[in-house]
Amino acid sequence: MTGRLAGKTALVTGAAKGIGRATAIAFAREGARVIATSRDIDGLAGLEDEGIAHLGALDVGDGEAVSAAARTHGALDILFNCAGIARAGTILECGRDDWEQVIDTNLTGIYRMVRAFLPAMLEAGGGSIINVASVLGSIAAGGERFAYSVSKAGVIGLTKSVAHDFATRAIRCNAICPGTIETPMVTDRIAAAEDPDAMRAMYVARQPMGRMGRPDEVAAAAVYLAGDESAFTTGTVMIMDGGWTN
Ligand code: NAI
Repeated sequence: MTGRLAGKTALVTGAAKGIGRATAIAFAREGARVIATSRDIDGLAGLEDEGIAHLGALDVGDGEAVSAAARTHGALDILFNCAGIARAGTILECGRDDWEQVIDTNLTGIYRMVRAFLPAMLEAGGGSIINVASVLGSIAAGGERFAYSVSKAGVIGLTKSVAHDFATRAIRCNAICPGTIETPMVTDRIAAAEDPDAMRAMYVARQPMGRMGRPDEVAAAAVYLAGDESAFTTGTVMIMDGGWTN
């Protein structure tokens, strides 16, 4: 099936790499007009070749920039909140800076985006908001990922709250919880490990399927949640983790 998102406008945060990039491309292939954004504008290079005409720098930590983007782009049909960062460590290793950076990007970043873009979506008659959470921290315990885990559990609460409050006004809000997906977030950590082979093996082993997921597999779920096929779905948490939390 093609053209599942034809006629829709989608904005993707964190589109330079990994899941965000794959999703921007998948949305465009399904006919959406895609606005691909990231903090890292240079990383968006090449997306024009995928039929994505609108590329822009957008740091979800910058409230002014988020408000300006909402004024520029107006009503969206699809808002895909993907920008995220990870920091390692238990609560004892998580100083105030790490805590604030992770919560500000992963959780407050989505708060800023939804508050900025929702009014125009409501005025235009509705839309689909998709937030990238994680099984780690929310569904499964996240080893030594304290701030990240808290931020992702918060994303689920934010998702359910928005879904509930705007269900009668044609706004849907859902979360995707991936397991380990082979993106720069994961491969950079593997490369930096003391024993990269052991680190890779650990990442693979936690999925009973015996592999990491691919960004395009997450993008396929995002396409479903973005489009009208999921019209009766809101407030859900879609787990895609190779069986990790089964
Ligand atoms: P990645 O590190 O490959 O890409 C992250 C993207 O977010 C990059 O484009 C980066 O420039 C952007 N970004 C970071 N901070 C930003 C900010 N303040 N404003 C705007 N853009 C910003 O990461 P990956 O793996 O593609 O992750 C995407 C999302 O999926 C994140 O929210 C991550 O927590 C989540 N996730 C990833 C999993 C994995 O195993 N890779 C598993 C579960 C969730």
